Amino acid sequence: MFPEGTGPAADPAGSHFERRIRSFQPRRSRVTTGQADVLRRLWPSWGLDIDGQRVLDLDAMFGGLPVVLEIGFGMGEATARMAADDPDTGILAADVHTPGQGNLLRLAERNGLSNIRVANGDAIILLREMLPPGSLAGIRVYFPDPWPKKRHHKRRLIQPEFLDLVAPRLKPGAVLHCATDWEPYAEQMLDVLTAHPAYENTSPGTGYAPRPDFRPLTRFEGQGLEKGHAVRDLLFRRVADGAAAA
Ligand SMILES: C[S@@+](CC[C@H](N)C(=O)[O-])C[C@H]1O[C@@H](n2cnc3c(N)ncnc32)[C@H](O)[C@@H]1O
Repeated sequence: MFPEGTGPAADPAGSHFERRIRSFQPRRSRVTTGQADVLRRLWPSWGLDIDGQRVLDLDAMFGGLPVVLEIGFGMGEATARMAADDPDTGILAADVHTPGQGNLLRLAERNGLSNIRVANGDAIILLREMLPPGSLAGIRVYFPDPWPKKRHHKRRLIQPEFLDLVAPRLKPGAVLHCATDWEPYAEQMLDVLTAHPAYENTSPGTGYAPRPDFRPLTRFEGQGLEKGHAVRDLLFRRVADGAAAA
């Protein structure tokens, strides 16, 4: 759809990492003319393909701001709001969804936000191949695909291998913030996060945390609430190396 360098690539990691389990749904992406236009104009400056072929210099990309990775921003409305509310934090926003990438760039341009970069592709490759140790001030995973069928549970993002991958990329004290409206997934998140020695619960008494004021209602959350689902927030802090066993 976009000639090389003028927009997000269709499959940026290509065949380099063929046998990975994907946590996202393959969906046909209908990109509007407006989204395509904004992608063409802004992608070269504000977008990056997750090709797994280079290590990112987040200081250079964000002018030294602390950087939070958001995995799966969907259409990006909540991301744009959080970036506007907190201009002193950079948001590296990753998703595979092209219309959402266009929408988020449109919102960033319209609201004059300079603290967002849009990453196109699989966040697992981004974490594994492109982010140096201790580079992130936080990670946000809001309403990840719940994969409700048992045979699909292996595609859920929040599981021990993911937590192993994330831990060294987080600065000590940085928070991994998850939210879901799918109760069995919330229970899985709480179980695996509680069991992992690299993280400690910021709400040890209750397990789940109250929704923090800085997290706006997201599009998927709204749909879940309409169905009567309860929403769970989990905020777990990265403990310092060596503190895990203490
Ligand atoms: C259920 S939607 C939630 C979107 C948004 N956070 C919200 O609450 O409205 C999950 C999103 O995560 C994205 N996603 C899932 N796995 C991903 C991965 N490994 N890398 C990048 N994006 C991913 C999907 O493409 C989808 O847009």
